[in-house]
Amino acid sequence: MKQIWIINGPNLNLLGKREQNIYGNVSFEEYFKKLQQKFSEEVNLQYFQSNVEGELVTKLQEIGNSCDGIVLNAAAYTHTSVAIADSIAAISAPVVEVHISNVVQREAFRHTSLLTPVCQGLILGFGMRSYNLGIRAFLENKE
Ligand code: DQA
Repeated sequence: MKQIWIINGPNLNLLGKREQNIYGNVSFEEYFKKLQQKFSEEVNLQYFQSNVEGELVTKLQEIGNSCDGIVLNAAAYTHTSVAIADSIAAISAPVVEVHISNVVQREAFRHTSLLTPVCQGLILGFGMRSYNLGIRAFLENKE
């Protein structure tokens, strides 16, 4: 059984309520239950969310050398956080960066990610399905 974490950054606790035209109307808790069920035979899936940059750093340090993969949506910190980039670089678990929206189609300040260079890969623009695809990146090595 693979140990995979989903980590969400600031304001993603408001999914389902915030800017529904961009992020949809499903809460993450609701979607997470579906993901857990979908992957239940292969994955022990766990979830952490924080609005606080340092708490995200602490969590990455705590789990980053013992799990099989991390699906990370650092939200706005994607574009600003040297601290989160450094913690990804410091851990051994592979990290897939995900975004619900296609950030490259949005404001210019969202076009830069400080995290992509230290992540294994990047998935963006598939709505909540981006998380599903992020998990799959750790499971499917057949293609
Ligand atoms: C986001 C995109 C970020 O630019 C934004 O700050 C978010 C969510 C996304 O999933 O599309 O909060 O990471």
